[in-house]
Amino acid sequence: MTKLSVNLNKVALLRNSRGRNYPDLIQFALDCVKLGADGITMHPRPDERHARKSDIFELKEALTVELNVEGYPSEDFLRLIEEVKPAQCTLVPDAPDQLTSDHGWDTNKFKGYLLDIILRLQAAGVRTSIFVDPDLDMIEAAREIGTDRIELYTETYASQYAFGNPNLVEEFARAAAFAHELGLGVNAGHDLNLDNLLHFHSMVTPLHEVSIGHALITDALYLGLEETIRRYQGCLGKSVS
Ligand code: PXP
Repeated sequence: MTKLSVNLNKVALLRNSRGRNYPDLIQFALDCVKLGADGITMHPRPDERHARKSDIFELKEALTVELNVEGYPSEDFLRLIEEVKPAQCTLVPDAPDQLTSDHGWDTNKFKGYLLDIILRLQAAGVRTSIFVDPDLDMIEAAREIGTDRIELYTETYASQYAFGNPNLVEEFARAAAFAHELGLGVNAGHDLNLDNLLHFHSMVTPLHEVSIGHALITDALYLGLEETIRRYQGCLGKSVS
């Protein structure tokens, strides 16, 4: 079963635009769970332009499902993770002012650096995931680093799919199978949506979790949150009652 973790950064962005607690992020997260989401993801950035540190603490308190916290492993971020102890931490190589994540780690180049961080997070009891492109060398090095999982960066799949070329999924299927052989769990995310998710899920095995934010929150504006989560879970082969 592939879990659907809903990324709520866009909800935090909406809230921050008015300086009040509306929409209420925690209530929104609880509603997502009530409507069938399997987990919640947040990606706090140093300028707190969407997720705030306080959101991470409050979500951990409020949620009964897994909280996945993504981010660049600055000292500040690592301390937050050690304090909050979310179920999972996904390490992303993005610069502080980056609009959104746009590449995976070079796990060969940053092997020593990431190894220390993974050990530190695992010592805190947090499951680790490293954001990577579907590149077998990078996945092999991720295993040497000792991470529990990888998250496949799916932007290339999504953009090729939109151009009418769904076959790039084979690269992701190979990457997932290779990671599995090495004993790594496999997550995926970025630009997954209601058009491309079904095909991705049918081809990429195993797939432990997808984290989806931008498209899901946009779809909810059109379809409503309940119908949106129902359709995303449907793409993952699950029915939500
Ligand atoms: N995974 C990672 C590591 C990300 O940085 C993001 C975007 O914050 C996502 C998944 C979700 O991407 P999207 O918002 O396009 O669904």
